[in-house]
Amino acid sequence: MKGIILAGGTGSRLRPMTSIVNKHLLPVGNYPMIHYALDKMADAGIHDILLVIGKPSAGLYVDYIGSGAPWNVRVTYKIQEEAGGIAQALGLADSFVRPGEKLLVLLGDNLFEDSLKTFVKDFEAGERGAEVFLKEVADPRRYGVPELQNGLISRIHEKPELPSSAYAVTGMYLYESDVFDIIRSVKPSARGELEITDVNNVYASQGRLGYRLLSGWWTDAGTQQSLLDAGLRLSGNGKT
Ligand code: DAU
Repeated sequence: MKGIILAGGTGSRLRPMTSIVNKHLLPVGNYPMIHYALDKMADAGIHDILLVIGKPSAGLYVDYIGSGAPWNVRVTYKIQEEAGGIAQALGLADSFVRPGEKLLVLLGDNLFEDSLKTFVKDFEAGERGAEVFLKEVADPRRYGVPELQNGLISRIHEKPELPSSAYAVTGMYLYESDVFDIIRSVKPSARGELEITDVNNVYASQGRLGYRLLSGWWTDAGTQQSLLDAGLRLSGNGKT
């Protein structure tokens, strides 16, 4: 299985800090945020990783991660010219993944306590088109929110006013390689981005979108408050 970490985007909710350094290089605990996604991939046994980054701070990623040797993984870099959306960033991995090969995608600002090892192993062995990971949250309106039906997701609503469940769709996704055909078929949303939720909803409409519930804590670190919370959880702890 291949690994894709998405660390492009503008980090607008963390300005002004992100005016000088990319969001995923900001400190969380004792490490830059991006460190934890690499830990998770390595722990899950994924050794071939594509890291999608924007142009600002690109050299700093190489300074910190290099070839990936500190994690015993191989990191390839891809530049996303503009923040065209999560699905657009993922589309850049098309030539990195062989037809028939599966992929684990992590959003670089998501931090997870659960090990991903079993999820990856089960998906590798199974026949599901795609799988997302849910966590119950106090305010689902900030996230993608699933509608659940008979053990599958019938639809995901992106940042809904009236959430259909108490769950957030976290920034971790498992896909079959047909995800790239689906990305080519989706249109930009009202905010001009290719949305990962639209991609996941194609799988949902085909009855091919599974889900798992996370038991450990999860946060995205994309706002001032959640960045602070994540730092407090992870201070003094290099491994997630
Ligand atoms: O954190 C989980 C949430 O992430 C999900 O519940 C939502 O369904 C999903 O759309 C996403 O929402 P956000 O509004 O939090 O996404 P954001 O724009 O903050 O982007 C998240 C990560 O994706 C960011 O750390 C870097 C990467 N990204 C994002 C964009 C827009 C890219 O690599 N390129 C991009 O163009």
